[in-house]
Amino acid sequence: MTESLKIAVAGLGTVGAGVLKLLAEQADVIEQRCGRRIEVVAVSARSRGKDRGVDLSTVEWYDDPVKLAAHPGADVVVELIGGSEGAAKETVETALEAGRHVVTANKALLAHHGTELAAKAESKGLAVAFEAAVAGGIPIIKGLREGLAGNRVSEVHGILNGTCNYILTEMRTTGRDFADVLADAQKLGYAEADPSFDIDGVDAAHKLAVLTSVAFGTPVDFGNVYVEGIRHVSALDFDYADALGYRIKLLGIARRTEQGIEQRVHPCMVPKAAPIAAVDGVFNAVIAQGDFVDRVLFVGRGAGAGPTASAVVADLMDVARGRFTPTFGVPAAQLSKAQPSPMEARRGAYYVRLMVVDRPGVIADIAAAMRDQNVSMEQFLQRGRAPGEAVPVVLTTHDTNEAAMQRALATIGAKEAVVEPPRMIRIEQF
Ligand SMILES: NC(=O)c1ccc[n+]([C@@H]2O[C@H](COP(=O)([O-])OP(=O)(O)OC[C@H]3O[C@@H](n4cnc5c(N)ncnc54)[C@H](OP(=O)(O)O)[C@@H]3O)[C@@H](O)[C@H]2O)c1
Repeated sequence: MTESLKIAVAGLGTVGAGVLKLLAEQADVIEQRCGRRIEVVAVSARSRGKDRGVDLSTVEWYDDPVKLAAHPGADVVVELIGGSEGAAKETVETALEAGRHVVTANKALLAHHGTELAAKAESKGLAVAFEAAVAGGIPIIKGLREGLAGNRVSEVHGILNGTCNYILTEMRTTGRDFADVLADAQKLGYAEADPSFDIDGVDAAHKLAVLTSVAFGTPVDFGNVYVEGIRHVSALDFDYADALGYRIKLLGIARRTEQGIEQRVHPCMVPKAAPIAAVDGVFNAVIAQGDFVDRVLFVGRGAGAGPTASAVVADLMDVARGRFTPTFGVPAAQLSKAQPSPMEARRGAYYVRLMVVDRPGVIADIAAAMRDQNVSMEQFLQRGRAPGEAVPVVLTTHDTNEAAMQRALATIGAKEAVVEPPRMIRIEQF
């Protein structure tokens, strides 16, 4: 009988406790599929007394996850603490130093230090596996890195944050405003007490940076991800989007263009008929475009104890079978640095919402500002009239360039009759 794979788990929160529960409940299936058992030998968390709903009576307890990382009897250290620095980073570095494989769900750590950690692991013949870090239970990393390994990927885009997708879905279906829906999401446990990482797009940007590296074989380049969150999407935008035939989604988009690699996270209007438009609530989705396979869509739960544990355990099973690829598909030393394509180079259509004082000449001024930047308008919507008062005015453009659009909006926003900063949502015709 092959010896069991021995693991030490740092972090016993939502994901850590979920992993222990899955390993206990599915022990037979795992053994049958890997030919060996996966055995938890040690764990670490902050508070020892906390009931986590799992049996810890037979495992060694460590108050310090960094000490746990050097546990002499562990083959793998599973890092489920979170955060790009501090305990999580030290735990992973110590584990690699000590010759242990690492499995992690930590997208923040990978977005900031993924390339160095991969290089360190590969120099020692170790794995750093991170299926759970991107889109939770969806096997997108394995799908891209292994399932689509024979393709050149030109684009990956997706709904990478379930909290934002839940908020946007609720806003659309109930007509309520952002702040109201966010407060409810916090009560239901779908949003953190400090929700800024989610709603400002940072969490999605961490995941996109990692996904880009796997898709294009480039070093992780979080610093060049353009990030815009969902705070400024209003109930009004959903009304107009519906009338124009769109849904609003926070997307992460990575694309190889002639200018280089685009990486951006921002709210998008997508046609109602696009498959991604139908992915609602806490679900995530990723679409990859490969040259031989064409378009592939992955949909599933992007968070939660069960789905995330499912991904962590799949990585552990790869290690148990002795089968793992370089961290990002291409050996870290051969990841090819690519030119980042700046946001100003984006080409596409735009939706713009303005609050303007309803008086003669204002609309002509807006049209002139667009014309001066060669931005061609497609539709113009003004519902109702209220002379002398502020009213919403919405317009959409034909494909144009981001830099020109930004210049036009700066001119429009400076007009006295425009009483709020112009709000713009990019239209993506997938
Ligand atoms: N939650 C999800 O659905 C999900 C989905 C995908 C990826 N992830 C990622 O998975 C990781 C874990 O997330 P989570 O939701 O499980 O977090 P969590 O519920 O907050 O759990 C974090 C765990 O780490 C422990 N911990 C924190 N600081 C520590 C320290 N300095 N020393 C030792 N232990 C420490 C905590 O101990 P105590 O319990 O004693 O406080 C807790 O057990 C993160 O990287 C997250 O981004 C989570």
